[in-house]
Amino acid sequence: MEKYIDLRSDTVTQPSLEMRKAMFGAEVGDDVFQEDPTVNELQDYAADILGKEASLFVSSGVMGNQLCLNVLTDPGDEVICEKDCHIFNYESGSPAKLSGIQLYPLDGKMGVITPSQVESAIRPLSAYYMPRTKVLEIENTHNRAGGTIQPLDNIIELGKLAAKYNLHYHLDGARIWNASVASGIPVKEYAKYFDTVSCCLSKGLGAPVGSIIAGSKDFIKEAFRIRKSWGGGMRQVGILAAAGLYALKNNINRLEEDHRKAKMLSDLLGGMKSIEINLDAVQTNILIFKPLKLTVNDALLKCKEQGLLLSVGNTDSLRAITHMDVSFAQIEKALKIIYNVFE
Ligand SMILES: Cc1ncc(COP(=O)(O)O)c(C=O)c1O
Repeated sequence: MEKYIDLRSDTVTQPSLEMRKAMFGAEVGDDVFQEDPTVNELQDYAADILGKEASLFVSSGVMGNQLCLNVLTDPGDEVICEKDCHIFNYESGSPAKLSGIQLYPLDGKMGVITPSQVESAIRPLSAYYMPRTKVLEIENTHNRAGGTIQPLDNIIELGKLAAKYNLHYHLDGARIWNASVASGIPVKEYAKYFDTVSCCLSKGLGAPVGSIIAGSKDFIKEAFRIRKSWGGGMRQVGILAAAGLYALKNNINRLEEDHRKAKMLSDLLGGMKSIEINLDAVQTNILIFKPLKLTVNDALLKCKEQGLLLSVGNTDSLRAITHMDVSFAQIEKALKIIYNVFE
């Protein structure tokens, strides 16, 4: 894959030499007995950054979100979310499969839903024949909307609403680090309004594997139990937790570079007649754009022929994600390829 400039996702990042050294030197133990010192250190460190009582290292973002939903609901319950969110579109129907719950997706603007939309979707308690609304979920940054940042005042208002109706409030913060670096709002401040948070170590932060979920001690205790029942109890997993710790300690602030790379791309795309892009949505490291003269498949193929890998955004759009393993020089090259292919 080395000959390609790979903008398909920030999950393609490779662990750096320094990260590998941290993994090599990690002290490990049996994490099913909660005796892996590196996992324990990662969980304490992450809980502290997120301002939560406790956290749990899990295998992936999907597992993180699904564990949170499972612990927060009973079968038959309903979760309100935004229609383009990850749990609704990209988690293989797991809410139904793993927890027996259903989602109630609302039509957001750039991934953002409003308190009045949510309030009208909450099922009245008196209607015993309706599902019970149990959780309100939002995504920050919002992947399918193009890496958009949830406005803090809206997060707060949605949180008040959740409290008023006794709903749990869950954050899919797979890229919360990007939101924080771009907005200047600390991760802790974002996380504070939610009961549970799931965030990825293996996207822009560059760890090879893993996510963190965080919440109250009681919540994490139950998530630990359910994780084991789903086959997610791992043994000397400190070898992977060491990469996550390295990522949290070293790779958050540098996300600013990825945002600058995305801006370089959007500056070009915004001026091209053969492409439709909402520049307001380019807020972090993701770009979603629509080719007007080529089909999505043709565009993907032509870019690939010239050495650039993109992915599908929505059915009629393309997605590019910047990350630490594409240099500024490669972004310059990608700009030329995009111009050649589309214009
Ligand atoms: C917003 C969001 N949530 C969750 C996930 C799931 O992460 P994973 O691929 O580690 O399961 C992703 C992955 O792209 C994501 O973008």
